[in-house]
Amino acid sequence: MFTPKTLCVVVVGAQWGDEGKGKLVDVLAERADLVVRYQGGANAGHTVCIGEARFVLHQIPSGILHQRTSCIVGNGVVLDPETFFTELDGLAAQGVATEGRIFISDRAHLVLPYHKLLDKAHERSQKIGTTGRGIGPTYEDKYGRRGIRVGDLRHLDAAKAVLSERVARANRLLSVMGSTELASEASHHELLDRLAPRLLPMAADTGLLVDRALKAGHRVLLEGAQGALLDVDHGTYPFVTSSNTTAGGAAVGSGIGPTAIDEVLGVVKAYTTRVGNGPLPTQAEPAVEEQLRKLGGEFGATTGRPRRCGWFDATVVRYSVRINGLTGLAVTKLDVLDTFAEIPVGTDYVLDGEVCQELPADIHALEAVKPRYERLPGWRRPTAAARRLADLPPEARAYLDRLQDLSGAPIRYVSVGTRRDQIIEV
Ligand code: IMP
Ligand code: MG
Repeated sequence: MFTPKTLCVVVVGAQWGDEGKGKLVDVLAERADLVVRYQGGANAGHTVCIGEARFVLHQIPSGILHQRTSCIVGNGVVLDPETFFTELDGLAAQGVATEGRIFISDRAHLVLPYHKLLDKAHERSQKIGTTGRGIGPTYEDKYGRRGIRVGDLRHLDAAKAVLSERVARANRLLSVMGSTELASEASHHELLDRLAPRLLPMAADTGLLVDRALKAGHRVLLEGAQGALLDVDHGTYPFVTSSNTTAGGAAVGSGIGPTAIDEVLGVVKAYTTRVGNGPLPTQAEPAVEEQLRKLGGEFGATTGRPRRCGWFDATVVRYSVRINGLTGLAVTKLDVLDTFAEIPVGTDYVLDGEVCQELPADIHALEAVKPRYERLPGWRRPTAAARRLADLPPEARAYLDRLQDLSGAPIRYVSVGTRRDQIIEV
């Protein structure tokens, strides 16, 4: 992926999240000097398996698992400090030293306990199926210009005065929503006292760090969370997350200009999954869904919820190629399809009796579309040991070729298992 001319690469999820970005970032980070998370927060769950060890990261970029890679939590991220430090301590316990190679943007907004209470209270009426991690309410505060940023901890007394105001406001909202659990001002103040000395040494103008790295010829990986169909603008609104998960968000959320980005890699599963509510046009019938879920281990890394499963939806991925400007695709979990005799692929939709090639913005229309399927022959052989395209059965290669043609972007990587080495570079 990286060449002397390709220094800045974005990795995004091109479906509804959980495409395997964590693994891809882990593989690519071996060749990167800097990995930057640019949006989302502890709602993300990246699972990385190294040998027998399994790491689930929510807040820290997956690049941290490579000793010579530095990591940045960018300004576009909402930082849950408790999760962040739990993860940092967990890494230390598993023998991963992080000292001096993790930086947090002083512009990143803090997710505080009251945000989580609000998230849960909203969820009782809104039913988006959020992760309950306080993501939406923190972005609401950010855009409502009520947020508390990492850099604010430098002025602890002023930050606490603002925080008292925010906690009181949250409690008023919680009461109106009939919530019995309210936020405690004292414990929020204690939290800031505890966090400031640990967070501030890592706080920096991280956009400047990225810019300097690129000018010095270093390789930078911008790591997205969630997926394009969960983007607040381009996703299946209102069943979306609260940030721009698409590649445009990478520039904004890491503090560089869009012209600094050289390549955008979209990660897609060889089939489709989604957690939470909202339309999923190619969702399989319950028995097949159960089979995919079992074979793919499709349970949320953050909430443990069973993921909804279905076939590859080329309309979704074509859309994703367009709105992200994808220059390449990484297809993951091909091995999950090893046992199927026939594999349906959704090529486009029928809506009100007419063929429709594009993803409708209208949620009612998206609920009503009927995918048209092409049935491709399965390969019924294990693919987990393949390390080159030529190692794959001809039917698996034909399957990948078809995904590529329908999607409109070249496949650059194929992942055939959870381990680091189970990857084909095309
Ligand atoms: P929130 O991001 O917690 O507000 O949740 C909004 C929607 O995004 C819900 O449908 C979540 O299940 C979904 N979501 C959030 N983060 C992830 C993720 O990392 N992977 C998959 N779905 C996610
Ligand atoms: Mg995930």
